[in-house]
Amino acid sequence: MTGSPDTPDVRAGASADASGEGTDSILETRELSMVFGGLVALNRVDLGVGRGTITALIGPNGSGKTTFFNCITGIYKPTRGLVTLRPEGSPAVPLKGLAPDRITHEGLARTFQNIRLFNNLTVLENVLIGRHTRMRAGLWGALTRNKRTRREEREAIDHSFGLLVSYGLDHMANELAKNLPYGDQRRLEIVRALATEPRVLLLDEPAAGLNIGETALLRELILSIRETEKLSILLIEHDMSLVMSVSQKIYVIDYGTLIAQGRPEDIRKDPKVIKAYLGEE
Ligand SMILES: Nc1ncnc2c1ncn2[C@@H]1O[C@H](COP(=O)(O)OP(=O)(O)OP(=O)(O)O)[C@@H](O)[C@H]1O
Ligand SMILES: [Mg+2]
Repeated sequence: MTGSPDTPDVRAGASADASGEGTDSILETRELSMVFGGLVALNRVDLGVGRGTITALIGPNGSGKTTFFNCITGIYKPTRGLVTLRPEGSPAVPLKGLAPDRITHEGLARTFQNIRLFNNLTVLENVLIGRHTRMRAGLWGALTRNKRTRREEREAIDHSFGLLVSYGLDHMANELAKNLPYGDQRRLEIVRALATEPRVLLLDEPAAGLNIGETALLRELILSIRETEKLSILLIEHDMSLVMSVSQKIYVIDYGTLIAQGRPEDIRKDPKVIKAYLGEE
């Protein structure tokens, strides 16, 4: 790689246009790098998620996609670079260095490559946990269960149940999460993320392990979330037909480095992308 991954780039915040991303990105990274010991897992990645769009991040196994999510959600502290959220009508928020719960509060929500539900809690309780990030009652409120806390709890239950209705899981509200079919567990994880009222939804391989029918339902779900919730989505996915059919823009990384970006029809025939994938075989 070129340059030092340790040096913060002072130019980075100056202009979103310098990377060609334009200022209409709700979320963008500039020169985002992550080094594990000697391994450069991300190498100066500039990526922008267009406002209200579905953007995909693809690449062969081990190319750094999940690491990218971990860096922007505060699970890893990036070695260098910037992560900026640009909410409509309010000032840009630098996310690098913020704790994961703070980043959730600012409006990034994610799902995980390996489903992370609370298996022994009910479907509704799992969504309520997502909802808690939007509740204000602190420990004192929880202990005394004062009027405001009770009102907030009622509101949280109503909101969470409303999401289950909207996304077709209400009939299973009182089931334990572990008893749901796999496709519904994936759906529940997405609904839990929505309960945090995100501006940007990050999905890490949501189709992994799904059969063809479940993947078709997932596709409808992703499209309807974008429409209904008016949010922006960043999708990591290996299922190319899903990626190609829902995304407006695709970024491709290989060995932590961006090798291509563009519209699905261009990415599909890009020789560098084809080589990266075939080289995997
Ligand atoms: N905490 C860590 N410590 C050391 N190396 C790591 C760590 N997390 C990821 N890596 C390495 O970083 C590289 C990128 O891994 P990552 O999980 O981001 O890939 P990925 O693109 O999500 O792959 P997949 O498609 O298989 O999910 C891999 O070489 C991985 O072994
Ligand atoms: Mg991954």
